[in-house]
Amino acid sequence: MSGAVRQLRCCDGSACRNGGGAALRQALLAARRAAGLAEQELPIRPVGCLRLCGRGPLVAADGPGGIRLWGGVPPELASALLAAARGQRQGGPALAIPAPANPPHAGPASADPPLGGLSLGGPSLGGLPLGGPRLWGPAPGGSPQQPVAPADPTTPADPTTPPDPLAPHQLNPHHPFFALQRPVVLERCGLIDPDSLDDALDHGAYRQLQRCLHQLTPAAVRAEIRASGLRGRGGAGYPTGLKWDTVALQPPGPRQVVANGDEGDPGAFMDRTVMEGDPHRLLEGLAIAAYAVGAEHGFVYVRAEYPLAIERLRGALAAIAARGGLGPGLCGSPWPLRIALRVGAGAYVCGEETALLHSIEGGRGTPRPRPPYPAQRGLGGAPTLINNVETLAAVPAILREGGAWYGAIGDPGCPGSRGTKVFSLSGAVVHTGVVEVPLGLPLRTVVETMGGGVVGGEFLKAVQTGGPSGGCIPAALLDTPLDYEAMAGLGAILGSGGMVVLGPATAMPELARYFMGFCVQESCGQCLPCRAGTVQLAALLDRVIEGRGAPEDLERLEELAAMVRATSLCGLGQSAPNPLLSTLRHFRGEYLQACAAGIAGGLSGGPPG
Ligand SMILES: Cc1cc2nc3c(=O)[nH]c(=O)nc-3n(C[C@H](O)[C@H](O)[C@H](O)COP(=O)(O)O)c2cc1C
Ligand code: SF4
Ligand code: FES
Repeated sequence: MSGAVRQLRCCDGSACRNGGGAALRQALLAARRAAGLAEQELPIRPVGCLRLCGRGPLVAADGPGGIRLWGGVPPELASALLAAARGQRQGGPALAIPAPANPPHAGPASADPPLGGLSLGGPSLGGLPLGGPRLWGPAPGGSPQQPVAPADPTTPADPTTPPDPLAPHQLNPHHPFFALQRPVVLERCGLIDPDSLDDALDHGAYRQLQRCLHQLTPAAVRAEIRASGLRGRGGAGYPTGLKWDTVALQPPGPRQVVANGDEGDPGAFMDRTVMEGDPHRLLEGLAIAAYAVGAEHGFVYVRAEYPLAIERLRGALAAIAARGGLGPGLCGSPWPLRIALRVGAGAYVCGEETALLHSIEGGRGTPRPRPPYPAQRGLGGAPTLINNVETLAAVPAILREGGAWYGAIGDPGCPGSRGTKVFSLSGAVVHTGVVEVPLGLPLRTVVETMGGGVVGGEFLKAVQTGGPSGGCIPAALLDTPLDYEAMAGLGAILGSGGMVVLGPATAMPELARYFMGFCVQESCGQCLPCRAGTVQLAALLDRVIEGRGAPEDLERLEELAAMVRATSLCGLGQSAPNPLLSTLRHFRGEYLQACAAGIAGGLSGGPPG
């Protein structure tokens, strides 16, 4: 494929930026200049997340032989990378620069089994001819079954050949981590330059909004969303079509729409990926939602800890304004939707919808009782549609392909969980990053087949899903499908998509204590059961962990947890006991062991605190 590579895509998501992505891109630009190539001969473009964040910075080369992928390449190897991407094995001094045994942010290389094996084919881009290269999938003419382990530079096949310094950085785009993904929400993320409206437009952005404004009634749009079976991706899984109908069917008057990009769960970075990688997708989904419910004002609420997402959204909104706005400028319609960005100060509770609305209104982010629900009385008293970022980002594809298409994605055995879901895979797992998969897939497929299991080949103890509102699924139940109902049945939740893999080193009572401490800190303090109950639960947990507890304390923990759950005002307090209760349910032995250790050492007894 010498000289025929079409472009290099350099991941410019925040994980890759933190791993030195900007320096690598600069070095590649310099290497291109040094090679005497013009920009149009080999475009080197920043793109959103390429998924395998733990191996960043990632670079993809698109050529006639398919996609080639590298991770963790240091800037010193930029000219070698450029040469390799162009199909030229570079000789000379550049090859003499040794690659670090453990490139920064690349994870422990020794623990990483060969990235090879199963491939179920390329991405679905929903049948849309995107005009650009496909992000993932087997290279045309290549074999998905080919052995694709990164070459071991210490044992070259031919001892006369100098070791290839890029070999440890080469990644296999056929690996299940990529091949089992089903990009719908993320279909453009990693393909387009997130800072370019033109690039987004070239890849289909705002076509569905245009279609809605010119061809579909709001009721027809809502019918499509209902038919899709889409449920809110913010954690509660409320049916999106039903929520849109509730807002639309309120008495006549103004309405508002809000995208919830607060994403405060520890270990969650799905919404960040969408906002950083394809901001126009969220804005189009929000605009379609506004049209469907009759709103002319919209807000995107993003936490201050997401500076790159904020920058990209600001840039996207400015680019739209420069073209004359969404309706008149981009869609040839007088429809006057205005979208504003609001930056939250980072309190976890501000993700709760009523607290978020207070925060937008300039007040303190404290939840209020529901009903009335925001769909009935929200911003300024107007009916307000509030949806999660990923929920809204799914909308353009649903409109393009039809609700029935989306509703057909997923395991038929999980009728309540349709479409795809984005998960952020982190913790003790080998391959960390972002995956978008059909719902209904067994958890095991994501964690073991795609994620590669636990680092160092250690046994997998559990998977924590749903952050502080979620629970732990023990290894024995790993075949549970990614299904709202099945996960809830285990005392865990599908949640917003945070998936933290736990190895043998994690002590479950301590994990429960971590999440309880998080809730103590993040409680807004407005209602007693949450304010004081979480503190008491944390103190009781300390007592058990420190060996001062007795088996009866576990029952006390359960009683108090049930009280906090039943009497707290908002979801934070209502779900704060979940990690504790799920670890008590599945790992009670560890709590009893802690108590027994204390009893054996004569430490038990006395009131907590
Ligand atoms: C403490 C707390 C934090 C929350 N944080 C978020 C969040 O960061 N993002 C989000 O979309 N939903 C969050 N939610 C859920 C929202 O209240 C709301 O249900 C959601 O934004 C609705 O959108 P959806 O129907 O599209 O999921 C949170 C709920 C609670 C109780
Ligand atoms: S449950 Fe907790 S976070 Fe929610 S209103 Fe009460 S004190 Fe505030
Ligand atoms: S941010 Fe670069 S791969 Fe995810």
